[in-house]
Amino acid sequence: MNKLKLIAGSSNKPLSEKIAKYLDVKLCSVTIDRFPDGEIEVKINENIRGVDVFIIQSTNPPAENLMELLVLIDTCFRASAERITSVIPYFGYARQDRKDRPRVPISAKLVANLLIVAGTSRVLTLDLHSAQIQGFFDCHADHLFAAPVMLEHIQKREIGNITIVSPDIGSIKMGRAFAKRLNADLAIVDKRRSTKDRTEVMNIIGEVKGKNIVLLDDMISTGSTLVEAAEEINKRGAKSILACATHPLFCGDACKNIMSSPIEEVVVTNSIPLSRDCVEQCPKVTVQDISHLMGEAIRRIHSNESVSTLFV
Ligand code: R5P
Repeated sequence: MNKLKLIAGSSNKPLSEKIAKYLDVKLCSVTIDRFPDGEIEVKINENIRGVDVFIIQSTNPPAENLMELLVLIDTCFRASAERITSVIPYFGYARQDRKDRPRVPISAKLVANLLIVAGTSRVLTLDLHSAQIQGFFDCHADHLFAAPVMLEHIQKREIGNITIVSPDIGSIKMGRAFAKRLNADLAIVDKRRSTKDRTEVMNIIGEVKGKNIVLLDDMISTGSTLVEAAEEINKRGAKSILACATHPLFCGDACKNIMSSPIEEVVVTNSIPLSRDCVEQCPKVTVQDISHLMGEAIRRIHSNESVSTLFV
């Protein structure tokens, strides 16, 4: 494969810079600007004809991030890049991944279609909301897990007597994998979402009394899922509660709610940059760097090496 070039979208510049550092390359020179009416204007300032291009862009809100990724893909396609990989550390619009009620969209499939239409050749992403979304991409897709980074952090803490808690059915598989690696027990929360920003814990299946709890989820949006689960677990006599979630969306009062909850530490990754407010208001949050994981996957894709062996 021809030369590799990294293009950074504007959603997560710090992560793109770290990935470039890991790969010992410079970020490709790109101008991302706005027309007077707010439309996105992109110009790639280097020749990328025949190049293996990796565009790094998380698609968390605002939707401008997604639109910018589509425009960048189109630019690379029209500039005759040999191959275009969309590196999407956080793949947004993923929670609507099935038609669970009448007259609702499957937005995860819609976004996957948009990427293909724009001209992406491959997708590289991390901790998708549900693993089967991989099948929505009608192109090669590599799905990475933040688990090794999270597990290393937990192991460094030297916490014993752990119970992993899945705060909803969606995270059971991930919970089981963590429990196996940490030789820990597994408990499951039966959660009901009462409104978009409120959840209710109906029951907890498994023993949490006297245990050091590690709550696991793929993302924190309002924080309600983790906070409600933590409060119930605390009532049931847990010894300590740590939470791990890959994608820190942190919207609304998430930081405030976490600060006043029984959760002692929240471990997230830099798939989405934390706002300055969040860093200031939420000292309970620890950010784990995934640049080496993403960078190594990019290196292996470029040189046609196995990506799955990153996780054995
Ligand atoms: C839901 O299915 C997801 O896995 C997360 O549990 C959820 O999106 C987190 O949202 P919030 O922080 O608003 O409870």
